[in-house]
Amino acid sequence: MSLTYFKATNFRVFQDLEVNLHPQYNLIYGDNASGKTSLLEAIAYLGRGRSFREANTKELLKHDTNDFLLFGKTSNLQQVAKLGLTNGSGGLGVSVNGNHKGGLESLARALPLQIIDPNIHNLVAGSPEERRRFLDWVVFHVEPSYLKLWRNYKRSLKQRNLLLKNNGSLDEIRSWNKGFSGLGESIHLLRSSVFEILEPSLAQITSNFLGDEVNFSYERGWHDDVSLEQALIKNEPRDSHLKSTQVGPHRADISISFDARTAKKQVSRGQQKLLACAMVLGSIEIVQEYTEQPLLLLLDDPAAELDGNSIKKLMDEVVLLGAQVIATSIDFNKTLLPGEPHVFHVEHGQIKQII
Ligand SMILES: Nc1ncnc2c1ncn2[C@@H]1O[C@H](COP(=O)(O)OP(=O)(O)OP(=O)(O)O)[C@@H](O)[C@H]1O
Ligand SMILES: [Mg+2]
Repeated sequence: MSLTYFKATNFRVFQDLEVNLHPQYNLIYGDNASGKTSLLEAIAYLGRGRSFREANTKELLKHDTNDFLLFGKTSNLQQVAKLGLTNGSGGLGVSVNGNHKGGLESLARALPLQIIDPNIHNLVAGSPEERRRFLDWVVFHVEPSYLKLWRNYKRSLKQRNLLLKNNGSLDEIRSWNKGFSGLGESIHLLRSSVFEILEPSLAQITSNFLGDEVNFSYERGWHDDVSLEQALIKNEPRDSHLKSTQVGPHRADISISFDARTAKKQVSRGQQKLLACAMVLGSIEIVQEYTEQPLLLLLDDPAAELDGNSIKKLMDEVVLLGAQVIATSIDFNKTLLPGEPHVFHVEHGQIKQII
């Protein structure tokens, strides 16, 4: 799949933006505050229904407008898909090939994408939620049944937490345990089987980048030697004290260690960025294998915080992946992407194709 055409109306600094994209390499360059990140944010919003800068709808709406509109065409072998999304005062609306009923899930399947931006080191240094989201993105694409399971689990967790908050009796709380832990164990099984497929790819790319062995291990969110149901019983005093469920797959994590150091705390920012980039590329490799199509990789200012050697390693690996790439840069950096990419210049929210 590649995104061949993209249009945005009333999104951030853009009133009307239209681009014909190269199926493989695209470079967007422009000064600070010209709109580079906003363009990637708009494209990512079409595939995810949320901002990778964690912005809310009001912040995304161009000043003094009510609704923004995003539209894209993707092509995959002989198939063309048309994707649309609108949000604002009229609420969220989504369509894939004219079908409005598939919700955000239909967009996520039609436009699978990953983002590497200057905050990517948070995948290593940030909270476990970042790494759960990372793993779940792979599981979502590899195991089609996962999303429904995850939604059911979240509902069950919410209800159990509500009981804890309202000081429900132990009997009432325990009556939830069976259903809750059944869903939780199923999530863990899917996650751990996907992690097993993912881990060799992560290990290989990270060691190419850092020249050292990096260890990734999946932590399921409760002790290894007990079932989730047993862990819930063991944790009853803590749960009732904190008034929320402290064990389960919503507490899972991926621990990363490198050269006998914990990557989260003991490696440099540049190394964290390289590690995180390697993880993203590894995840793309696996999802591409399962979906049997190239994915879209958005690279926002990839050179930030990386030395010349590191950026070369990163871009060499990006090229090997064969994904469609849209990269941004402050300068017209001809060497960033190989071949003959489409090159666009952005200035004050206006975009012009140069090559
Ligand atoms: N809702 C909005 N409406 C209008 N303009 C906005 C809105 N949100 C942000 N902007 C403006 O959009 C401009 C572009 O921001 P963006 O972050 O995309 O720039 P950039 O090219 O990525 O810059 P940098 O090189 O510094 O990363 C900024 O001037 C910002 O103030
Ligand atoms: Mg930017």
